[in-house]
Amino acid sequence: MSTKMKAVVFTKYGAPDVLQLAEVDKPRPKAGEVLVRVMATAVNQADNHVLSGSLRFSTGLFRPKQSILGSDIAGVVEAVGENVTQFQVGDAVFGDLSAQGRGGFAEYVAVPETAVAPKPASLTFPQAAAVPMTAVTALQGLRDKGELQPGEQVLINGASGGVGTFAVQIAKALGAEVTAVASTRKMEMVRSIGADHIIDYTQEDFTQNEEQYDLIFDTVGNRSVAEYKRALKPQGRFVTTAFLPSLVIQVPWLSRTDGKKTHNMMAKPNQKDLDVMRDLLETNQVIPIIDRCYPLSNVPEALRYLGEGHAKGKAIIIMPDSSAGA
Ligand SMILES: NC(=O)c1ccc[n+]([C@@H]2O[C@H](COP(=O)([O-])OP(=O)(O)OC[C@H]3O[C@@H](n4cnc5c(N)ncnc54)[C@H](OP(=O)(O)O)[C@@H]3O)[C@@H](O)[C@H]2O)c1
Repeated sequence: MSTKMKAVVFTKYGAPDVLQLAEVDKPRPKAGEVLVRVMATAVNQADNHVLSGSLRFSTGLFRPKQSILGSDIAGVVEAVGENVTQFQVGDAVFGDLSAQGRGGFAEYVAVPETAVAPKPASLTFPQAAAVPMTAVTALQGLRDKGELQPGEQVLINGASGGVGTFAVQIAKALGAEVTAVASTRKMEMVRSIGADHIIDYTQEDFTQNEEQYDLIFDTVGNRSVAEYKRALKPQGRFVTTAFLPSLVIQVPWLSRTDGKKTHNMMAKPNQKDLDVMRDLLETNQVIPIIDRCYPLSNVPEALRYLGEGHAKGKAIIIMPDSSAGA
């Protein structure tokens, strides 16, 4: 069996052109790790943030500590390290490796067994790869930070993107009345995934129309916190996934000035929430929306496309020899 594999690597920060397809050593699973043959992986905005060097205080000050990006994987366990108890060779798994140094843009990756969970049986590998980071972010944002209750009104800003398409569906599954904010050409898609009301942001500003919500779940960060709060009911909550310096400064200060809670959230990948997502997916309460698929060699193009900020659901990388089936 070959000790080499294909991977998309980078050794310096920059635009997606610094990424290169290369032959590298195939990893071996250490104790507690599983070696996953990656069948599909997704690109995330976090890959672009790491690649650009904007997170260099944690990813390596002068050069990246890890050479392979890619957080979301779906694949098959190829080998297990010592003391692995949850998985066997041949098991299909999915997971988010962002807390484990990434490594998904490769044919194989070795990860702690706790970083992955059994893949939803009803999903193909590309569909499963679309889920981990963005769906768990939406789940934790709505359920934990947003404390969304059945019957409440929630507005999702950025409803057509990776996080937003999951947020609309998870909010419906939690029993909420959902208003989705999207651009004209994506209104039909957000309606098809269950939004009760749709606001076309090219025609209407949701912070100015006098409607108020129990929760605003925001993935865009294009308004001031005061504007978002204007659209909240008294005791309403605002949760944003966007990493905007102005929000980092404003949110903690403004959240103390009235009864409206505001949160800058950071998702915490974990097996329990992958299990929650698997239940929602296997019962068809949530369906991954896939925008485009690319081969491994086109990771730079996929990241450039995502970086333009107008994806319709997820962009997926399919491995050359993946059957794209379950
Ligand atoms: N905190 C965390 O743990 C965490 C985790 C995951 C992601 N994130 C962050 O969350 C953000 C969203 O991630 P994502 O994966 O969903 O990004 P994405 O897939 O690129 O989606 C962005 C979406 O925003 C929409 N949009 C752009 N301008 C808009 C506007 N003015 N009003 C409403 N919608 C607008 C775009 O649709 P149109 O084409 O219609 O404009 C697009 O569908 C990113 O900043 C990412 O880094 C944070």
